[in-house]
Amino acid sequence: MRNLFVGGMLLIFSSTALAHVGAVGVVKERMESMKAMGAAMKQIKAMIKGRDDFVPERVKELARAIADLSGTALNRVFPPGSNFEPSQAKPAIWGNWQVFKDLAVSMERQALQLAADAATSGAVEKTYQELSKTCKSCHRKFRLKKKRR
Ligand code: HEC
Repeated sequence: MRNLFVGGMLLIFSSTALAHVGAVGVVKERMESMKAMGAAMKQIKAMIKGRDDFVPERVKELARAIADLSGTALNRVFPPGSNFEPSQAKPAIWGNWQVFKDLAVSMERQALQLAADAATSGAVEKTYQELSKTCKSCHRKFRLKKKRR
């Protein structure tokens, strides 16, 4: 939590609201691309769960956008030791680089599979779940839960 005085009023922000404040360079870049992936996953899920109209072309587009941010593109935004504030990246990433890299590659493959399955009702939900599991498994291993502020 952090307090800010603005025009005499005390505003209290949760650390999530401030997550990107102070993030620069590559940390900012990857937070933004992760956020974009989160938003894409949310939209795909809403379509799969029937909260939004299911538009295969849209699923395909979103899944491709996720794929573009995975694999080597994802590895590129994690240069060695770039876990400075306010990053939630664990130092373990660079001690287990192969594991981290493999997760990024699986993610790319699964996102491309999701794009391919977009028009195949029945397959799409399972592929989505698999991709989602990869997101979570990397976060469990390599992302700090709480801000260290
Ligand atoms: C190879 C590991 C890995 C995979 C796979 C991965 N992430 Fe992340 N993600 C991270 C790490 C590490 C961070 C913390 C980055 C930082 O704070 O510097 C993060 C942060 C995030 C954040 C928080 C960004 C912010 O605002 O600070 C979101 C949202 C997110 N990921 C969504 C996703 C989604 C959705 C997927 C799957 C489609 C995914 N991630 C797959 C490693 C991964």
